[in-house]
Amino acid sequence: MNAASSTAWWKEAVTYQIYVRSFADSDGDGIGDLNGIRSRLPYLRELGVDAVWLTPCYPSPQHDHGYDVADYTDIEPAYGTLHDFDQLVAEAHDSGLRVLLDIVPNHCSIEHPWFKAALAAGPGSPERERFHFRQGNGDGPPNNWRSMFGGSAWQPTGDGEWFLHLFTPEQPDWNWNHPDVAAMFEDVLRFWLDRGADGFRIDVAHGLYKHPEFPDAEDPFEEERVADAMNVLAWNRPEVHEVYRSWRRIADSYAERDGKDRPFIGEITGIAKRHLADYVQPDQLHQGFFFEMLDSPFDAEAYGTTVRRGLEQAARTQAPVTWVLGNHDTVRVATRYGGGAPGAGPGDIEAGTARARAAALLALALPGAVYIYQGEELALPEVVDLPLDRLTDPVYRRTEGRRLGRDGCRVPLPWSGTAAPYGFSTNADTWLPQPPYFAQYTAEAAQADAQSTWHLYRAALRIRHEVLTDAGPVQFLPTPPGVLAFRRGDGFTFALNTGDAPVDAPHSGTPVLASAPMPEGKLPAHAAAWWTD
Ligand code: NOJ
Repeated sequence: MNAASSTAWWKEAVTYQIYVRSFADSDGDGIGDLNGIRSRLPYLRELGVDAVWLTPCYPSPQHDHGYDVADYTDIEPAYGTLHDFDQLVAEAHDSGLRVLLDIVPNHCSIEHPWFKAALAAGPGSPERERFHFRQGNGDGPPNNWRSMFGGSAWQPTGDGEWFLHLFTPEQPDWNWNHPDVAAMFEDVLRFWLDRGADGFRIDVAHGLYKHPEFPDAEDPFEEERVADAMNVLAWNRPEVHEVYRSWRRIADSYAERDGKDRPFIGEITGIAKRHLADYVQPDQLHQGFFFEMLDSPFDAEAYGTTVRRGLEQAARTQAPVTWVLGNHDTVRVATRYGGGAPGAGPGDIEAGTARARAAALLALALPGAVYIYQGEELALPEVVDLPLDRLTDPVYRRTEGRRLGRDGCRVPLPWSGTAAPYGFSTNADTWLPQPPYFAQYTAEAAQADAQSTWHLYRAALRIRHEVLTDAGPVQFLPTPPGVLAFRRGDGFTFALNTGDAPVDAPHSGTPVLASAPMPEGKLPAHAAAWWTD
């Protein structure tokens, strides 16, 4: 059964994350857009994913590439129009793909009309109550909280007050105690659901509420740590769960009308990671990214622990695990597993790619949902050596270069050809430059090579649909160190070898899929395989 056809389609769905700026450009400005996505729907269909998640495509001055929203109910002009959005949704639905949007409720943009009104209205005004404006402490900020992207979490307004921004100063935090804010977001959800959106990824879902008195954090967070993700006063407050209860009622009211679930998937990080189970409840969020897999080293024992933890949590919460190996905030998996990163060099890209292929087979063999970040199916590496004067991530600017930021995983995708812009655009001056070695990673080249990672993903998605949906729980098999193996139901076996030498496969016969050739039936180092009986 195709997971996309069932009511609870999201439980086993494979969702492809589209970083809109970098997926495909239709109008030659070097920036991806909605019509570019439309033109590539056949590619996604052929790959075999069930849904796409679009990163924020609302009007935004792009200080954090769309995570600074100026208008929650329109489309960023560089990306297209509402009409383009409607066309995209209709065509995606026609080709059997669901469309998830990205909602950003913790903060907006300094360009949002309510924030502009708050600045203009001045201290003590009702307009300022929709945000967190406070008097400074002497000459300094109201407290010692730090921004996730470096520096103080407070920005002075010049009239004695400061406003809170847990990310950049261009992203003021909403005050969720104000009834206008909750009501506005409920309207926003309905606006997009009425236009055909099939669900939402929720940005920093553990944010929204802060300690009402804004006391100093006990640990003032050293400058080197920069990201204040562990501040219990700023994140994961109990009130947030009530927001998701009311959002779930909205999602359920749509599902009741037409029988189609509208899932919410939370991005729950930092201090809240270990509280994920509090969010994924039958009356709150449907899912939350299980970042433990993304954080795991390439190691059979570590994966075993992570998978067991994920599955136990799913059993407790009734929310399927959402496995994830990469996203637009993380060093690309093929580079990460080879020890590379911006500032640290490319690493061993061959080993990293072998490991990334094996890890993909692990994620796709498990019960639950999987998110694929665009380019993972091409084994695309991180661009670790972008010219410093081309870096755009506010993390780079806010940390005065101490952290190079996330641009390296956001470089426009290579689609075809042997020179930039590799079919991404008609304009070689793409918003981030594509390196010459992208010629080896084009979708065109991958599709022409039967051994490519693209074909591995495509085959895995097909087999997953055919034999793994509802295949039954994971039963771990006894294995030597460095090997993880399990059965699902009577007909499926998985094995992964993270060690440095080939091992005997735990299953005889020829695998239906393997991340590397298996001479003499042995499972090579850094490889995984699937068998069906
Ligand atoms: C998480 C998003 O994934 C990231 O890209 C963004 O910078 C922050 N939230 C702030 O919205």
